[in-house]
Amino acid sequence: MTAPEMVLTERFQAAFAAAFGAEHADADPIIRPSQFADFQCNAAMGLAKRLGMKPRDIAARILEHVDLADVAETPQIAGPGFLNITLLPEWIAQQTAQVAADERMGMPSAEPRTVVLDYSAPNVAKEMHVGHLRTTVVGDALARTLELLGHRVIRQNHIGDWGTPFGMLIEHLLEVGEDSPEADQLRTDPNAFYQAARAKFDATDGSPDADGSDFASRARRRVATLQSGDAESLRIWTNLVALSKQYFHRIYDMLDVTLTDEHLAGESTYNDQLARTCEDLENAGIARMSDGALCVFPEGFTGRDEQPLPLIIRKSDGGYGYATTDLTAIRHRVQDLGADRIGYVVGTAQELHFQMVFATAREAGWLPESVQAEHVKIGSVLGEDGKILRTRSGSSLRLMALLEEAVGKARGVIDELRPDLPESERAAIAHDIGIGGVKYADLSTAHDSDYVFDLDRMLALTGNTAPYLQYAVARIRSIRRRAEAQDIALDPQAAPLVEGAAGRALALQLLQFGPTVQQVGEAFEPHRLCTYLFATAQAFTAFYDAAPILKEEDAAVRSGRAALAALTERVLVTGLECLGVNAPQQM
Ligand code: ARG
Repeated sequence: MTAPEMVLTERFQAAFAAAFGAEHADADPIIRPSQFADFQCNAAMGLAKRLGMKPRDIAARILEHVDLADVAETPQIAGPGFLNITLLPEWIAQQTAQVAADERMGMPSAEPRTVVLDYSAPNVAKEMHVGHLRTTVVGDALARTLELLGHRVIRQNHIGDWGTPFGMLIEHLLEVGEDSPEADQLRTDPNAFYQAARAKFDATDGSPDADGSDFASRARRRVATLQSGDAESLRIWTNLVALSKQYFHRIYDMLDVTLTDEHLAGESTYNDQLARTCEDLENAGIARMSDGALCVFPEGFTGRDEQPLPLIIRKSDGGYGYATTDLTAIRHRVQDLGADRIGYVVGTAQELHFQMVFATAREAGWLPESVQAEHVKIGSVLGEDGKILRTRSGSSLRLMALLEEAVGKARGVIDELRPDLPESERAAIAHDIGIGGVKYADLSTAHDSDYVFDLDRMLALTGNTAPYLQYAVARIRSIRRRAEAQDIALDPQAAPLVEGAAGRALALQLLQFGPTVQQVGEAFEPHRLCTYLFATAQAFTAFYDAAPILKEEDAAVRSGRAALAALTERVLVTGLECLGVNAPQQM
């Protein structure tokens, strides 16, 4: 255990037990960073209430019993009963050395749990829009972080590969020809394909030919034949989905996202179990017929006029919907995949849907209390006008075009920074900066807040951005390169040297790495890691200004500072790895 808060918490709880009795051993010592010292313990006020004593007297009693001799100076009582704690430099150095020697840099090895993460989930034959950028990037960061913490992560890409639009899409594919350039659009510009199908449908919908040979009528019939399992319809559908998958994977490759074909578990996966889902719910008395549809009315959900809100699981035409699929998926994830925790990284707009699905699944016994299910709500990406990001024509913005633009802009940044580097290297770095910049901007915003898509800000070398962090890493790496080139000896075995205010601040920051990653994994909140990494990079800059490395004559001091820099590098790189952002060797 290396993080100060944890050590202090343990010591204070021992003191509570000794001073006030064992029943107070689990009181929260409320250890917080302090303006006046390194930390403060704010427990006295709460304990005073519980024990009917004055806070300052409680603080004095705690002081009598707390054993911090090896960790901190004697705490100072301040104000109504705060205890200000200043850590001993030797202790900070010792803990920092421990973190440096630890392959996991102080990250706790959690008890492994099986976490199912449902993320990305774009829709077949539709452009992945910017909204899917967020569900993809946030989900992937969570998957990486949880794996690093030692959990078993099962990625589930719940793509939209079933439903009524497929009648129209299949008919359009047949009409243009499965080997036509239009069909190829499915791999390159699926939105164009979708829009063309949609236009044909809209043009004929409402004015059917007498013999039903118009496009809209055929599309409707096609949905029915597809759902009845007609072999030819299924073959064309499979082809359509296969072309779409190629498109998704082009995007995933571009984004350095860990999703592959094996993680695909689209809506259609559950087709043959949907009837059973409905039957089970009906037999259990949880679902009932209402206006011809089979519905669940989960407790606590009311609409207008306080009427119970229905979750429709079988429509009056016998069709199943989004909720039926999700209920079936939950059962599969718990019973077959063995989930202890399920995270749904999906837009905020679907909040009610998930609440009702979770409530129904709990009632049905498919989601036992021991399994956590959480909707990781994803906010919107906005344009500069504050509205949901769209192109001028009004359709949602093409994700690929946006990513290409980001890499292009990053190319400008690196061309200016490093004209000396060979072309191929600048291209690779531009990819890391451009994609990293877009992903990081997304991750550094709380996942349920909206943000404005602003490439210039995302790619800036200052502020809480990927390029700033990437630059900090490259700077540390260049210290090592220069040492080698100039034959300046750096002892790789040296322990980090913690000296001066800036060195102390940096070391304290590095001790927080483990607890921060753990918190991100627990709360599903990648933006906390971004905040942490940014503060760490800033602390490094301050340290490096105050304590130059290569210019230092004393070999031991030089090596000690280099060791602190090397630990900073490892923390930054591992943190960025959690986020799925690459750190180039040089910038
Ligand atoms: N395809 C859906 C959409 O684009 C998201 C699916 C999310 N996952 C789920 N299990 N419902 O909105």
